[in-house]
Amino acid sequence: MAIERTLAILKPDCVRKQLIGEVTSHIQKAGFKILGMKMIRLTSETAGGFYAVHRGRPFFDELIKFMSSGACVPIALEKENAVADYRKLIGATDPKDAEDGTIRKLYADNKGENIVHGSDSVDNGKIEISYFFSERELVANNS
Ligand code: CDP
Ligand code: MG
Repeated sequence: MAIERTLAILKPDCVRKQLIGEVTSHIQKAGFKILGMKMIRLTSETAGGFYAVHRGRPFFDELIKFMSSGACVPIALEKENAVADYRKLIGATDPKDAEDGTIRKLYADNKGENIVHGSDSVDNGKIEISYFFSERELVANNS
């Protein structure tokens, strides 16, 4: 299997609930290498740009309001088969449907406020990482 990169975001509910350490620990214990990590506050514009693919969907406005409601923590991750393995680790979008032991099942309140983001393909992983990190911020010196 190929080494891939994927983008995680610890969403504003994760930060508000003081779960940055706990959720990051799940990610690291699952074997992901952290290449870059920062705390930022998205605006409606930057959140809207990130989720442009969902523009026009009924949940879009609420999603943008939520994502810009507080600090969040984008994390660039690397691992063999990273995209699919990370999606498995976080579980289904709606925590009600997520498998036991997944991050969303453990910590999320509802489908909107669901603790974490994860890229859905290798190509989107690259695009999404570049939305938050420049190449020199991806310091792969922790192997
Ligand atoms: O995050 P994921 O890839 O699992 O789901 P998505 O379908 O790409 O949707 C992006 C985000 O929009 C979700 O993580 C939810 O925060 C939100 N969403 C929502 O509030 N209601 C929906 N019906 C679908 C998504
Ligand atoms: Mg998605």
